[in-house]
Formats: sequence, structure tokens, C-alpha cells
Amino acid sequence: MGPAERDLLLDAFDSNWIAPHGPHVDAFEREFCETVGMPYAAALSSGTAALHLTLLMLNVGPGDEVIVSTFTFAATANAVEYLGAAPVFIDSDRETWNMAPGLLEEELAMCSRRGKLPKAVVVVDLYGQCADYDRILAVCGRYGVPVVEDAAEALGATYKGKPAGSFGAAAAFSFNGNKIITTSGGGMFVSEDRSLVERVRYLATQARDPAPHYQHSEIGYNYRMSNLLAAVGRGQLRILRDRVSRKRDIFHFYEHVLSGLPGISFMPIAEFGEPNYWLTCILVDPVRFGATREDIRLALEKENIESRPLWKPMHLQPVFKDCKVRGGDISREIFDKGLCLPSGSSMTESDLKRIVGIVLRTRPRSR
Ligand SMILES: Cc1ncc(COP(=O)(O)O)c(C=O)c1O
Repeated sequence: MGPAERDLLLDAFDSNWIAPHGPHVDAFEREFCETVGMPYAAALSSGTAALHLTLLMLNVGPGDEVIVSTFTFAATANAVEYLGAAPVFIDSDRETWNMAPGLLEEELAMCSRRGKLPKAVVVVDLYGQCADYDRILAVCGRYGVPVVEDAAEALGATYKGKPAGSFGAAAAFSFNGNKIITTSGGGMFVSEDRSLVERVRYLATQARDPAPHYQHSEIGYNYRMSNLLAAVGRGQLRILRDRVSRKRDIFHFYEHVLSGLPGISFMPIAEFGEPNYWLTCILVDPVRFGATREDIRLALEKENIESRPLWKPMHLQPVFKDCKVRGGDISREIFDKGLCLPSGSSMTESDLKRIVGIVLRTRPRSR
């Protein structure tokens, strides 16, 4: 956090707008729209809330199926379950680690043959890299199934020059503490459809009818963002470009030092876009490298440095064990071999050198 966030937060505090609405919420929504090139946005308490309300907008309910990338964080699939619907998982492709358009096509063709299409397809922009939207939108368009973009990790990324979050019927962003910019916790719903965004705002504010008293004709949610956190978000938006640039430098530092080593490869960067480099992720082939990703993780942990395995795919999660999955081996392999290296933007060059030194020392000496 920097001086801009502090000044804006104090401004919100001093103005006494200590509520889940207020001038900073309105300004954050406006400024966010400018950043992602979308006309309308609603600031919410989390990215999960944004996904939940997006699916509610698309009338997802009990008995429905929703197609979801299997390689993601649980929140993507949880939102489907909140509405009593069933997630159907699609494996990743090797080129982007995102939803494989070919498998999506197979699944939709099968759904069409059996006469029941899914209510939506939720596509995740994993680790800050956009999925292949031209192909995904073409497939979904053929079957008339709406696309939802889970851009929780991808603020600042682009696909063919267009910002993440500008594909599909609506998109969800997260400002959780670990994201590229943060409000400690928070999310944003964005869409080109003004009526959708207005309805999300209404549902997120306990679905309060326009009356002087408290009157409700529908079930609502307490999902709005606080004015204090929106002030922090406005300050964070101002440093988004610098953040992405620093994250890119961190990725390239690791890549320069480690990519020549046998058995180490990096998350592939597809030619169609520019990620936000949120986390630098590597794959470790234990036979060729001589150590496993867990050896590296534990060696770093011994030095009090945190690194993490990649997301465990949803089709391998105990809670989703009964859900359908198409493919699954690619994300399983990426999970087995994958590690998120420390990627904090405040790390110094000497921190980075220390980390790669530890990674290199995990290899047996004879190599
Ligand atoms: C892909 C993905 N979707 C959804 C979420 C949920 O966002 P939040 O933590 O703001 O609810 C996250 C991150 O937390 C995420 O990484």
C-alpha cells in the first residue's frame, strides 16, 4: 500500500461514509470501468459474490448444469453449487493451461445431442492469462450458451489487445489480499448490459425495494463493497500498470535464470495476449531435474520462504468427486508438477537471487 491508498482511505474515514455505499464506491466503479474498457460495473464484497450473482442473473438454478474450467480455485465451482446447479468440468489445454476449446466443443455437442444444454460456461483466466476467447466464444455462440469470464486473477491482462473482463455476458474480478491489486477483500461485477449491473447492485443491497420503509419483494444478499475499501481500491488502480510491469520483470528474472535447466518449464505465454504475470508458475519434471516440485517447496519453506503448489483441479477435489469431467489428465499433470514461485511485487533483486539459489541447490550435485 502506498500514500495514495492512505490518503483516499483517510478521506473516506473523515467524510464519515462508513457504509457499503458512498462516493468512493461510485468513483471506484467509474475508474474500474475506464481501466477494463467496460461501460458498467458494480463493486461487491468479493469475487465469489460477483460469480454468484452473475450465475443468478443467468437464471441458473436446481437441475441445471454449468460448464466450468477444472483448473481453478474452488470459488468458481462453489458459485454454481450455491444455486443448486451442477458444475461440469473441462480440462485445460497445454498452450495456456486454460479451458481447452476442443473439449468444450465436444461437451456442448454431446449436450445438444441429448437435448439439454448447460445454462452457462464459466471460463477462468488462470494465473492472469486470458483463455482463447475467439475460439471459446465461437463454440458457445454456435450453441447459444452464455459465457461468464472469471477474471478474478487477470486484472491488467489482455487478449488480442482487449482487456480481460471484456468477453462474455459478464465478468467477475477479485481484490482479495493475494491478487494483483487488493482492497483486502472485494470484487467487481462488470458487463456491457446496464440492466444486469443495476440488478446486481439491487440484489447485492438486500434487494431493497424503492420505498421509504424497508420493503422486499425478492431474496437479496449483503454483497456490496464498503466505501472504505473502495477508497483503497481507487489508490490501488493507480498503481496497476506498475504492478504488472514489476510482475513481468519478476517472471523474466526467473525465466532467464531457470528456463535453461533440464526439467524446468514455465507457464506457457500464448501469443494471442499479454498476461498480468500475477504469479510465476513453473513445472518441475522430477526425472530430468533430479528433484520434485515438493523438494523445491520444502527447501524454500526451510528458509522461511513461501511457495505454493498450483490449484488442485476441481475434478480431483473430494467435494466435487461426483461431478462430471471431460478430460482431466492435463490439469492433473500440471498440478502434480507445478509450483508458484514467490512473486510478491515488493521483493528485491537480492530476494530473487536468494530464491533461485535455493531452487538450484535442490538439484543433486552430480548434475
Ligand atoms: C479464479 C478465481 N475465482 C474466484 C476467486 C474468488 O475471489 P474472492 O476471493 O474475491 O471471493 C478467486 C480468488 O480468490 C480466484 O482465484
